[in-house]
Amino acid sequence: MSGETGVLFVCLGNICRSPTADAVFREQVARAGLADRVHIDSCGTAGYHVGEPPDARATAAAARRGYDLSPLRARQFDPADFKRFDYILAMDESNLAHLEARRPADYRGRLDLFLALAPALGRREVPDPYYGGERGFEEVLDLVEGAGEALLAELIGAGRG
Ligand code: 4NP
Repeated sequence: MSGETGVLFVCLGNICRSPTADAVFREQVARAGLADRVHIDSCGTAGYHVGEPPDARATAAAARRGYDLSPLRARQFDPADFKRFDYILAMDESNLAHLEARRPADYRGRLDLFLALAPALGRREVPDPYYGGERGFEEVLDLVEGAGEALLAELIGAGRG
């Protein structure tokens, strides 16, 4: 954990919620001047969309707020991610259960719901927007912006900034 902190965002398909969290947190970290200190990535527990760019609706909603999802490509969670990331943050309880089942006994990082870092939001899960309408993508952005700020404050407070 010396030097760089690794943060991995995890959802189901890695085309809606976790790439949004990836791009939003990347921007928040860059604005804080910490881009070279935090390694950020995202993945999905499922492999349905491996290699695909993020969902066009997620990309459009994020672009309206100034975030660029276009360089991202979906990948599936790899158990080796437990060696690479200090924070592994799941978007919902189902994603978290998948990760908990694979957690090595010696993993010393934080495996948790992303929104657990931001109790003030009053929510536990980032709802899956895939089968819903535009509003769902705005809600994803609202939640990950709020939780990203809380995570950034934690990293700075922990002296990792
Ligand atoms: P995500 O959304 O987990 O936020 O990327 C989904 C994307 C695809 C599917 C489900 C959720 N799918 O069933 O293909």
